[in-house]
Amino acid sequence: MIRTAGESEKIGGRLLSLRQDGCLGGRYRAGVSAVPEDYTFEAFAQHGFYEVVNRHLVDVTLRLRDLSSAPVKRVLDLACGTGAVTKLLIEGLEKNGDHAEVIAVDPSESALEKARRLIGSGARFIRCTAESFGARVPKTDVIVFCNAIHLLEEKDSVVEQAHDVLNRDGVLAFNTSFYEGAYPPGTERFYKLWMLRALQQLKREHPHLKLDRSRPEAMRWLTPGEYRELLERHGFIVEHMNAEVAEMTCESWQDISHYSEFVKGALPGIPVEIGSPILKRSVAQAFEELKMKSLPRNWLQVVARAA
Ligand SMILES: C[S@@+](CC[C@H](N)C(=O)[O-])C[C@H]1O[C@@H](n2cnc3c(N)ncnc32)[C@H](O)[C@@H]1O
Repeated sequence: MIRTAGESEKIGGRLLSLRQDGCLGGRYRAGVSAVPEDYTFEAFAQHGFYEVVNRHLVDVTLRLRDLSSAPVKRVLDLACGTGAVTKLLIEGLEKNGDHAEVIAVDPSESALEKARRLIGSGARFIRCTAESFGARVPKTDVIVFCNAIHLLEEKDSVVEQAHDVLNRDGVLAFNTSFYEGAYPPGTERFYKLWMLRALQQLKREHPHLKLDRSRPEAMRWLTPGEYRELLERHGFIVEHMNAEVAEMTCESWQDISHYSEFVKGALPGIPVEIGSPILKRSVAQAFEELKMKSLPRNWLQVVARAA
């Protein structure tokens, strides 16, 4: 049964609000507000499984870099977003006793603003894209590029710049859950049902809107083998590549449906303020129909050393 907005339910002794979009959530966001909606990644980045996969990547990366005799002097968080990974990097460096400068870059001013609030003076923030960061940052020992490489059409230029910017023994790490292999076997039917329900709602509520299917190549997901070739093409040696499973809840899917880039990828050509609530409602419907509590999803974790 899908409950209606405004209802509440006591679960595990804790009163949780029912969000206007159908899932139970501890962090209620009203659907109607006088403040314009900010479609960032912040809510999704607070989920426990997300922190776990990113922390694992940061740990492996710093451990690998520590094999070098030269100390870590500078670390770059590329596409830092709202700062969740920047925070993990700072914690990892502190744990290892490394006194390194942290630079965090992102093209989104609203994401940077949130990251500044989270990190304070713990990092230096620069507004720029991954396509042009090479000219904007000094030489560095580590580059971490989390949950963003799949957003770029032109990946070669980023990896090439990363190689130029890294010092000797430098390490580049990235992860993504949007790659060929992200769906564990048996989970495809969830995505099909979700999209079917989303498109039905779109047709019902906005019959004049159509998906833009003109650029299917733009968002093609790479295979792990293609990522390896990409790195090797630009002088990297892949030291670590594995798929880590995360259990995603309905609420986490709704939170990622609040992120503009996700909405653009899932419903290309549909305005975010229309697509986002449709994705949130339809994912709740899919979870309900399939009687699921969570869904496994693979994260590709990659760490490479500049040869
Ligand atoms: C999904 S968020 C990931 C944020 C953070 N790295 C994390 O893992 O939590 C993707 C980020 O990539 C940024 N982004 C989008 N296009 C980009 C580009 N061309 N160059 C650099 N960053 C980009 C977005 O602004 C957003 O902050």
